[in-house]
Amino acid sequence: MKFITLVIAMLLLNALHAFPASADSVATGLERGRFLVKFGGCNDCHTPGYSEIAGKMAEQDWLKGSSVGFQGPWGTSYPGNLRLDFASWSEQEWLVAARAQRMPPMPWFALAELPDDDLRAIYRYIRSLGASGQPAPAYVAPGGVVTTPYIVFTPQVDSKRVANK
Ligand code: HEC
Repeated sequence: MKFITLVIAMLLLNALHAFPASADSVATGLERGRFLVKFGGCNDCHTPGYSEIAGKMAEQDWLKGSSVGFQGPWGTSYPGNLRLDFASWSEQEWLVAARAQRMPPMPWFALAELPDDDLRAIYRYIRSLGASGQPAPAYVAPGGVVTTPYIVFTPQVDSKRVANK
């Protein structure tokens, strides 16, 4: 009886290996990557206009980078064009890039927490979108000349409020 169970188990295992990953499981991998990108808020900064329309933007326009800078004590940083980045990175390069320290307001410390499997899912998803768009403007050091619009990313104090205090 035990032997028969073993034979059945082996046949089942063989059957599983005989079939290559179905189109469904590939799609599920992309689904996971899309979910992580949406939940991770990557579009909030890397896709201009996305937040303003509550994410109702065609996927083909996602993650092309922004030419509006974020300015603070670190200088002026720009959310890069991830479509171009991912087209040029190998999966291994991405695993390293995903854990590199970045300037604010990039939540690099949150991204770095993701396990490899999730990072790989993000990689496959963003790669599947294809290379598109222009590179974002280059970072400008503190005090440098900024030629693009930028968001001042430091706390502001309303002068009227201070005066009326
Ligand atoms: C609050 C805004 C913000 C959010 C949210 C955000 N990023 Fe960024 N990201 C930036 C900025 C700004 C930079 C540039 C930082 C620098 O130059 O060091 C950046 C840089 C990067 C880089 C380095 C390469 C490049 O093109 O600049 C990668 C990769 C990246 N982000 C991926 C992601 C992913 C994946 C997510 C979602 C999990 C995400 N980012 C969410 C703002 C953001």
